[in-house]
Amino acid sequence: MASKLLRRVLIVSDRSPRPSSRSLPGFTSSRLFSSSNSQPLPATASSPPPPPTTVDPPSSSSASKFGSKIRNDSVRSSIKDPELAKFSAIADTWWDSEGPFKPLHLMNPTRLAFIRSTLCRHFRKDTNSARPLEGLKIIDVGCGGGILSEPLARMGAVVTGIDAVDKNIKIARVHADLDPGTSNIEYSCTTAEKLVEEQRKFDAVIALEVIEHVANPAEFCKSLSALTTPGGATVISTINRSMRAYATAIVAAEYILHWLPKGTHQWSSFLTPEELALILKRASVSVKEMAGFVYNPLTGRWSLSDDISVNFIAFGTKDGQ
Ligand SMILES: C[S@@+](CC[C@H](N)C(=O)[O-])C[C@H]1O[C@@H](n2cnc3c(N)ncnc32)[C@H](O)[C@@H]1O
Repeated sequence: MASKLLRRVLIVSDRSPRPSSRSLPGFTSSRLFSSSNSQPLPATASSPPPPPTTVDPPSSSSASKFGSKIRNDSVRSSIKDPELAKFSAIADTWWDSEGPFKPLHLMNPTRLAFIRSTLCRHFRKDTNSARPLEGLKIIDVGCGGGILSEPLARMGAVVTGIDAVDKNIKIARVHADLDPGTSNIEYSCTTAEKLVEEQRKFDAVIALEVIEHVANPAEFCKSLSALTTPGGATVISTINRSMRAYATAIVAAEYILHWLPKGTHQWSSFLTPEELALILKRASVSVKEMAGFVYNPLTGRWSLSDDISVNFIAFGTKDGQ
């Protein structure tokens, strides 16, 4: 049902840069996603059933291992220790454009085009301006070494970058301080739920390639929503739980091309676009546009596409004004 609806979505036109993206009409699905259960939803008709998943319970031990500032005892934690360990092990390589984060470096211009286009349209900003995001308060949740936070700051946004891995934040800080255009970024080793406790609010909340690494995607979306001002924007990118994603994002990227360390991704942790839209809806965020990222092996470039069968990005708005 939801897949059929997605097939009928409109292509949204926009001025240059012109990402191909999907505008989602009223998104309905009869499939349920319990926020108290972090198991993925049942597979769609077009995707295979997920294998049994073990979900790591929230752990406050992350505080000692990955960042002494994180204390999640009082809030439901999005932290999955084994996931953080993977990122901690390769933290030094964030700014090596030929290293393990090469795919993110290559994707960066494309995902920034989507973010600039959707945020400018939503907040009525001029996409062609040198600093199109001027005046917007944006948080980059799971910012890693800051490869997205920095260009957002250069586009004029007041940027906060947070990550649960302390080493990532240290690398991000050192790198941002190299350029006066990015040295005003606020970096912090913390979690979205911790900032919710502190009642922080942002015009736009962005979490790219993070939700597939958290303990409970539905709870994580609730935290992202709580950080978003009413009428503000939430942008999430992740990988679809499809057979194509298994073949390309895991088998090819990790085992054949060695783009990513083996074990970077668990197929069962991926979400379908319908599932993401549903858990966002339950968190009071309505998905308005979606686009896929597709890789051209001949040019080595990524581009925006209607094909959301592997990598995709969603733009939503928080209910209320
Ligand atoms: C694949 S990286 C994506 C980095 C960045 N968003 C980007 O796309 O360039 C995932 C990041 O999320 C961070 N992370 C994982 N779980 C997290 C959580 N619960 N809270 C905050 N950050 C988290 C990891 O440490 C890692 O830096």
